[in-house]
Amino acid sequence: MKVVVVASRKGGSGKTTLAGHLAVQAESAGAGPVALVDADPQGSLADWWNKRAAQTPVFVHTSVPDLPDDMERLRDLGIELLVIDTPPALSSAIADVIRLSDLVVIPSRPSPHDLRSVGATVELVEHLGRPLVFVLNGAAPRARITNEAITILSQYGMLAPVIVHQRVDFAASMIDGRTVMELPGKSRSAEEVSELWGYLNNRLTGFSRPIALPTLPPLPPIRKIVTSGDPARSDIS
Ligand SMILES: Nc1ncnc2c1ncn2[C@@H]1O[C@H](COP(=O)(O)OP(=O)(O)O)[C@@H](O)[C@H]1O
Ligand SMILES: [Mg+2]
Repeated sequence: MKVVVVASRKGGSGKTTLAGHLAVQAESAGAGPVALVDADPQGSLADWWNKRAAQTPVFVHTSVPDLPDDMERLRDLGIELLVIDTPPALSSAIADVIRLSDLVVIPSRPSPHDLRSVGATVELVEHLGRPLVFVLNGAAPRARITNEAITILSQYGMLAPVIVHQRVDFAASMIDGRTVMELPGKSRSAEEVSELWGYLNNRLTGFSRPIALPTLPPLPPIRKIVTSGDPARSDIS
């Protein structure tokens, strides 16, 4: 069983939205059975799930202290993926949850507030030695701040190559317990979630781990380049 924890210190970055969407997408892509845990006392993910007509993914009522034992039970029941939503804080309880993860997904909006708060989340996850991936969420198309956010997040760590854009269907679909993939018709939002899950699944299964390069034949000796200071007069010795 793989465990994905969605975490970030910043409220409103999209933790609950991504936790629900990734769980539903993973289930429909065949990576299930998928289980969801809401570790946020506010219970937004639980509220969403309670309005849901579909029976999957399954929802697990637990607490942070009980989580390790409950995870054993879920493993025994044949759950293949556990997605855990967390509150916007960096407490010792969140550290306990992150410790149990195979991958920490850190959503960030391309906003100065989100980007400024990312460092503290990264510090905690790296201190605990867990792999992380950023997801740029709520991006406006062609906005300059989106490119700046890509640069900043890439400096902190691995950024998912799929950007989730700001679209009303993310919020609207969750009102009655659904996701953008469960709305009628095709949408760019649903495609983004599908591509994002595809990437995360590869990370989880080790598919995208750097592979060892084949041994290269010895290279010819490198010739020293001597410059005279005048770029027009570079000599090779
Ligand atoms: N990509 C998006 N496009 C539009 N609205 C979004 C998107 N992601 C999140 N939202 C909305 O933003 C608000 C905060 O998202 P939420 O997932 O609850 O954040 P968090 O769990 O990090 O506090 C919610 O109203 C949600 O519907
Ligand atoms: Mg939330």
